Amino acid sequence: MEYENILIETDDHISVITINRPTKLNALNKPTIEELHRALIQLEEDKAVRVVIITGSGEKAFVAGADIKEFSSFNVSEGSQLAAKGQELLFDYAQNYSKPIIAAVNGFALGGGLELAMACHFRVASTNAKMGLPEVTLGLIPGYGGTQRLPQLIGKGRAMELIMTADMINAEKALDYGLVNHVVEQAELLSFTKTIAQKISNNSSSAISKAIKSINANFRDGTNGYHEEIKHFGECFNTQDFTEGTTAFLEKRKPNFKG
Ligand code: COA
Repeated sequence: MEYENILIETDDHISVITINRPTKLNALNKPTIEELHRALIQLEEDKAVRVVIITGSGEKAFVAGADIKEFSSFNVSEGSQLAAKGQELLFDYAQNYSKPIIAAVNGFALGGGLELAMACHFRVASTNAKMGLPEVTLGLIPGYGGTQRLPQLIGKGRAMELIMTADMINAEKALDYGLVNHVVEQAELLSFTKTIAQKISNNSSSAISKAIKSINANFRDGTNGYHEEIKHFGECFNTQDFTEGTTAFLEKRKPNFKG
């Protein structure tokens, strides 16, 4: 499939999507969001892919936000439409993706960039990464889920302060806040993230997919997460991975999950 704003590389069950608009610090314009959506569909259908990593090209930015130039003359309905479409195509889509998505945050992750990283299932950052939601400096609020996911990840008080001050935090503070799981030197960011992805890819893909659904249920209004967990737990018993996993255990060997 042809893409202009992203690159995809797949090796050993792991796909790396690189957002590739370095001259604009990988800002998310409409075509880039649409390409990311198409890429996620393509990789979801590809049985060889078990884990997806999203990163930004260059050494400066993961994603410096939504493309400000693109929306600077929008009216109320165009603004709402921008947020709704973006959430549908990318941010909600990533959060509810059936395969694990890890954000490898290699520099600035601001506005929509941090919102994308937060929509991924977890985050690894390089030491030079800087994160923030500076929308109020533009007379806006975060519109790609930032007001919801930031408090879920770091707590309400910290999220209030970060959004109100528009401050950027460095990787060390993001680690302390629990916004990222690991911080590594930039040169090691991808190899380190791939090592985690590799570990994940050795486990049962079908079970991981159900774990994602069950964990997400905890954050969905009107859903009883415990009931969701029971449902998905039960479904596991009807999978080849369950047969393989339990048989391998009883035969004292490593499981060989087919994905
Ligand atoms: N949307 C559109 N273009 C962006 C962008 C964004 N969110 N962020 C950066 N760019 C563009 C700049 O306009 C510039 O393009 P130009 O060379 O054609 O003028 C290019 O990327 C490089 O950015 P620049 O600002 O010159 O780099 P810097 O090192 O001086 O500053 C940042 C880096 C990240 C601090 C700064 O670019 C910035 O504040 N970006 C906007 C962050 C933001 O508010 N994001 C939330 C959007 S909702």
